[in-house]
Amino acid sequence: AIVLYQDQFIDRDQAKVDIEDRGYQFGDGIYEALMVYSGRIFLLEPHMKRLERSARELDLALPYSTDHIIENIKKLIELNHLDDGVVYFQITRGAAARQHFFPENTPAVITGTVAGKIRDLSKRPQGIKAILADDIRWLRCDIKTLNLLGNVLAKQKAHASGAGEAILHREAIVTEGSSSNVFIVKDGTLVTHPADHYILNGITRLFVFDLAKKMNIPLAQREFTVDELLDADEVFITSTSNEVNPVLQIDDRLINGGEPGRIEKKLIDAYDAEVE
Ligand code: PDD
Repeated sequence: AIVLYQDQFIDRDQAKVDIEDRGYQFGDGIYEALMVYSGRIFLLEPHMKRLERSARELDLALPYSTDHIIENIKKLIELNHLDDGVVYFQITRGAAARQHFFPENTPAVITGTVAGKIRDLSKRPQGIKAILADDIRWLRCDIKTLNLLGNVLAKQKAHASGAGEAILHREAIVTEGSSSNVFIVKDGTLVTHPADHYILNGITRLFVFDLAKKMNIPLAQREFTVDELLDADEVFITSTSNEVNPVLQIDDRLINGGEPGRIEKKLIDAYDAEVE
């Protein structure tokens, strides 16, 4: 596979990062993950806007203009002949002798990879099991940083118990998934946590807002509790790679009798129509 390193396209085997890169030492960097469907990047613009915001919030100077980064991502997709799959890229604050405060005159480092993933319509909607987990992360979850240890520990806990996602909560309030946003459906209304510093404002989350609007499904951005989650008519997660995925079971509790719900199916169909 060909990977992106700064402005170069090189063999995966040849790619090396500096052992004093701040991404490696501090998790000091940001990232985005994008889907490619039939050779086209899905929702590119909002992803790049979010990247710019993450950079701004961390005072991280991007190594190239956004337009140039987009060009390079497109070239990476071409060079790998990727028709369907994921592009991952990250930008770190670069390599410098280790000290916590920002180095001066150190260029940021961008790297990128792709992974093929066929979108199998016949298998959808599948749905997943989830577990509940304490949200132990920091208070700037709105920034898409490389610092994902709280997310990683929660996902591992889910994985170890045979579940696909950990739904995080701070005390009684549900925030989001370890790598997804969480929606509930109650009496025909979609409910999801507001976009503040407790969650990542998912691009798929915002795309679902658009789909809901087109289909006249009411939506409320408000806090909801673990009890409301477990009592919901439907629960689903959204993310770039999971799209809209029903949650059929949370710990020992079945949601909607363990079947995808009516609104979930409508959203999944609408999603398919936009992607095809
Ligand atoms: N995760 N919340 C968290 C904590 C996430 O990590 C993600 C995405 C989302 C959903 O965001 P979006 O719809 O923009 O993908 C919400 C990516 C896919 C990842 O870490 O691989």
